[in-house]
Amino acid sequence: MNDLEQFFLHSQHRLIHKWQHYFEIYDRHLQHLKGSKINILEIGIAHGGSLQMWDHYFNGNATIYAVDINPECKKFESDKVKVFIGSQEDEKFLQQLKTTIPRLDVLIDDGGHTFKQQITTFKSLFDHVKDDGIYICEDLHTSYFKHFGGGLKKRKTFIEYSKNFIDKLHAWHNKKIPVDDFTRSAQSLHYYDSVLVIEKRKMSPPFDVKSGEPAIEDKFAADLVAIQK
Ligand SMILES: C[S@@+](CC[C@H](N)C(=O)[O-])C[C@H]1O[C@@H](n2cnc3c(N)ncnc32)[C@H](O)[C@@H]1O
Repeated sequence: MNDLEQFFLHSQHRLIHKWQHYFEIYDRHLQHLKGSKINILEIGIAHGGSLQMWDHYFNGNATIYAVDINPECKKFESDKVKVFIGSQEDEKFLQQLKTTIPRLDVLIDDGGHTFKQQITTFKSLFDHVKDDGIYICEDLHTSYFKHFGGGLKKRKTFIEYSKNFIDKLHAWHNKKIPVDDFTRSAQSLHYYDSVLVIEKRKMSPPFDVKSGEPAIEDKFAADLVAIQK
């Protein structure tokens, strides 16, 4: 059981609402930040329990920024937690937010989970995550839900939108794909059930390398040709 599950199950806290398998995903991608002073933004506060969970997980070292459309959530503000009331679907609000908060080590989108919200938030805030930061979008299953307007391979869902990230990651290898800010700033995509984690890193054109005795390599190549014949 990792620290998040421990806290979730065995500590006193306000209500937390997560899918059970998310704890392992968070821990896998966030544990390296535990000893550092970091800035984290969670979109979607609800009862405020996850804000307590992040404070505990990062040993009190995190400054936590949080967004919710519900003005009631302002009550969860504290010396460690700064709450902003607004909609993640509102580009102007998100641009204003960027002028107020520092660049982020971690962004977690656990808001309303419509794909318009997920896409608007990604478009507005991905560049506000630090060069080595982590972007997490949750509850991607809404892309498949009829009542969210989704469905298998349905255009305009976040899942379909994010499939383009795979091409963008490989833009160095095909002139038809423009090398853009995403290509230059995303190192890896991690898809889990209902969660996408994007790990950022400054990227430059990849190159292949060789090491070892050329004679051996040539012989290997010759052997390979012989086998294939
Ligand atoms: C799933 S709950 C968040 C759960 C919380 N992170 C936790 O782990 O306990 C979703 C929250 O997103 C908020 N929300 C819904 N639509 C939103 C929007 N357009 N912008 C910002 N927040 C929104 C809701 O008010 C609700 O508090």
